[in-house]
Amino acid sequence: MKVLVIGSGGREHVLVWKIARSRCAGKIYCAPGNAGIAKIAECIPISNDDIQSLLSFAHKEKVGLTVVGPEAPLALGIADTFRKEGLRIFGPSGNAAQIEASKTFAKGLMQRYGIPTADAGIFTDVDTASEYIKEKGAPIVVKANGLAAGKGVVIASSEDEAINTVRMMMVERVFGEAGKQVIIEEWLEGEEASFLVFTDGKSVVQMPPSQDHKRVFDGDTGPNTGGMGAYSPVPAISRDIQDRIMNDIVVPTINGLANEGCPYEGVLYTGIMLTQCGPKVLEYNCRFGDPEAQPLLMRLQSDIVEIMEAVIDKRLDGSAVRWDDKASVCVVIASAGYPDKYQKGEVITGLEEVDKMNDVVVYHAGTTLHDERIVTAGGRVLGVTALGDDLKDAIERAYDAVGKIHFNGMHYRRDIGQRGIRAIG
Ligand code: AMP
Ligand code: GLY
Repeated sequence: MKVLVIGSGGREHVLVWKIARSRCAGKIYCAPGNAGIAKIAECIPISNDDIQSLLSFAHKEKVGLTVVGPEAPLALGIADTFRKEGLRIFGPSGNAAQIEASKTFAKGLMQRYGIPTADAGIFTDVDTASEYIKEKGAPIVVKANGLAAGKGVVIASSEDEAINTVRMMMVERVFGEAGKQVIIEEWLEGEEASFLVFTDGKSVVQMPPSQDHKRVFDGDTGPNTGGMGAYSPVPAISRDIQDRIMNDIVVPTINGLANEGCPYEGVLYTGIMLTQCGPKVLEYNCRFGDPEAQPLLMRLQSDIVEIMEAVIDKRLDGSAVRWDDKASVCVVIASAGYPDKYQKGEVITGLEEVDKMNDVVVYHAGTTLHDERIVTAGGRVLGVTALGDDLKDAIERAYDAVGKIHFNGMHYRRDIGQRGIRAIG
């Protein structure tokens, strides 16, 4: 069967890598892909939001399964369009994807179904928002309602900063229409975790917890990024806490969506804060996380295409989803300047050295081929991912591999996974 993967980041590289190991997959296409993906799939120059061209391509090539990596095409309703035309696609409908694309929709759902989350108000004008901020005090969190490429959340340490942020979002429209409405919410304190599940709308099968590292610098300092690294499993999250997250958060979310006429299927990612009062939802994503997918899918032992087919056919069965007991760590290497303006076109060396290592894979994100050389083409460039007997071993292997790679201006965090080690110790 031919498979089409949509997207061009590290998440899509690991998806293609894992699909290539499936006994059901034949030829694999990726639109638009990157230089690493091009080694194992045919890259097609169609952008991920050009739904009509993707549809024509899938028809023309008789693609048997389409897998959507990023949120943008899902929010645009790519799954609805494909299904209407009889094409099989893994991912939620446009309505269900609102759980990520509209923070007000997600907050309303949580409030209606008693799902634990930060207290919040929803605002459409600066004055009322400012009054609310003055009433609640700082620190306080301001979020643009719509999709803002992971940049639409500001944790304001003063009332002035919060009010200025509201103005930037609502008046200056730095995130365009996404900032027409803002959510202002209570600042939650605790350890953050990513909790992903496969679901066909009825059965819900959890993946092992993972943890992202959002800030650009060591020790969780500096501005937020798309994610500088991730690891799994997360020793701080006991079986008991996982059961609580499933029973009090994930299952009620999926049932709530079904109850409101937008049944969910695909991967549901819940961003959790483990607070003193128990786990609370920070956000939902309607897809795999990036970089969480890299360590998670390296640990997945089952055939991912079989799982995706079971989701589409509504016969998902937990016993068919098995995980390696090993730990996995992904260290992201970024371009100079990221997450602000960054350099492109730097030649990357050392990748062949890492190819020779066991249980280490370099998933590409912002890379492209130029004169037969692999060069940087984005902010997050590579996700160096290793399996190890335990977290410490996986960390050592990942950094060993990172040490062999070079490009001008590259930077990465040196403490990926250390939070997990501290939690054990
Ligand atoms: P979001 O896109 O909603 O996940 O927000 C991005 C990041 O901002 C999260 O991963 C958290 O680190 C942080 N964040 C979001 N909401 C809150 C909150 N209510 N309290 C503390 N931190 C938050
Ligand atoms: N790693 C965070 C995300 O994928 O949204």
